[in-house]
Amino acid sequence: MLDVSNLRVSYGGVPALAGVDLAVSAGKIVALVGGNGNGKSTTLRALAGLNAVDTGDIRFDGVSIKQVPAHRRVALGISLVPEGRRLFARLSVERNLELGAYTRHDRAEVAVSLEQVFEWFPILKQRRKQEAGTMSGGEQQMLALGRGLMARPKLLMLDEPSWGIAPKFVTRLFDAIRSVNARGVTVLLVEQNLHKALELADFGYVIQTGRIVLSGTGPDLLNNDAVRRAYLGL
Ligand SMILES: Nc1ncnc2c1ncn2[C@@H]1O[C@H](COP(=O)(O)OP(=O)(O)O)[C@@H](O)[C@H]1O
Ligand SMILES: [Mg+2]
Repeated sequence: MLDVSNLRVSYGGVPALAGVDLAVSAGKIVALVGGNGNGKSTTLRALAGLNAVDTGDIRFDGVSIKQVPAHRRVALGISLVPEGRRLFARLSVERNLELGAYTRHDRAEVAVSLEQVFEWFPILKQRRKQEAGTMSGGEQQMLALGRGLMARPKLLMLDEPSWGIAPKFVTRLFDAIRSVNARGVTVLLVEQNLHKALELADFGYVIQTGRIVLSGTGPDLLNNDAVRRAYLGL
C-alpha cells in the first residue's frame, strides 16, 4: 500500500531524514520505533504532505504522491493523528469529530462514520456535547483517533498515541487500534513505547538519526539483542 524510498527531509538545511526506506502492506499494523529526535514525526509528516521532501519517493497504492498536497492525500485515504493530539480544546467532542471529515462531501456517509466511531469508542458518544479539553488525556487520545477515522482512511498514521496517558488507558488504546485494524484499516504506528508497539505490530522498523537501522517482525525485534540493549534496558 505504502512504499517509501530514500526519503530525505531537512529543516533549514539540517538533515532530519537521511534516506528512509520502508513499506506498509495493506491490512497490516507496522510500527516505526526509536528514541526521541530520531525522525519519527518528520517521517509521518512527510507522508502526510506536511513536510517538504528533498529527495526520494512516496508511493501510495502504486502511485507517487510526492507532489500531492496534504488535503488531497487525506482524500486519497491517508490520515494522520498528530503528536500531541492537536484537538480543538474548546469545541465539543462531536464537533472535533466532524472536523475530521473535512475533506468529505458525502454528508449522509459522514453521519454513518460518526455512528461507527461512537460504536468503537462509546465514551465519545457519552461525552459528545462536552468540550474536548475537559476530558482526560486518554479520552482525548481516543477522540484524536476517532477524528482520524472520520476521514475514512485506508492508512491511519498514529504519532505516539500513548504519550502522556495513564498506563491502564494505554492498554485500552492499543486494543482500540487493534480493533480498528481488524475492520480493515492499515496502521502505521510511531512510538517511543517500543514494547507495546512491537507487541501489536506485524512488522517494525527502528529509526536512528534519520535512518532505518533495523527491521523485522515484532517478536524478532523484541528478541533482538541490539534492540533489547538500546531501547528496552535489558
Ligand atoms: N520544526 C523543526 N525545525 C527544526 N528542526 C526540527 C523540527 N522538527 C524536528 N526537528 C529536528 O529533526 C530531528 C527529528 O525530529 P522528529 O522527527 O521530531 O523526531 P522524533 O519524532 O523521532 O522525536 C530532530 O533532530 C529535531 O530536532
Ligand atoms: Mg515525534
